[in-house]
Amino acid sequence: MIGRLNHVAIAVPDLEAAASRYRDRLGATVSPPQDEPEHGVRVVFVELPNTKIELLHPLGENSPIAGFLAKNPAGGIHHLCFEVEDIRAAREQLEAGGARVLGDGEPKIGAHGKPVLFLHPKDFDGTLIELEEV
Ligand code: CO
Repeated sequence: MIGRLNHVAIAVPDLEAAASRYRDRLGATVSPPQDEPEHGVRVVFVELPNTKIELLHPLGENSPIAGFLAKNPAGGIHHLCFEVEDIRAAREQLEAGGARVLGDGEPKIGAHGKPVLFLHPKDFDGTLIELEEV
């Protein structure tokens, strides 16, 4: 069902410092920061030949990243995103197997303008998993 690793998302307490580490120390191509108010995040995309790293920082009230950083003040891996061809078919197959889809279960438009779903970390070894239809 899952295909390529689309991105690894890392919550960071200092977005500019994190972007600088990837750009200046690791020599990666790094985007300018982008605000995504509907997701409550400010994001820097690190472009790698085979995948992306998304550096996430809280934006606004009720950001889903704020609670994560409260528990992990130094930052840490927040989620993995895998590509799927048909997100509704993937959801049906996962739910039939007992996996829990977060929220109301309806795909939302994600950071790249494509439908996404999140799966409960307790069902996947403590890892929050995002599925993105490509
Ligand atoms: Co993501």
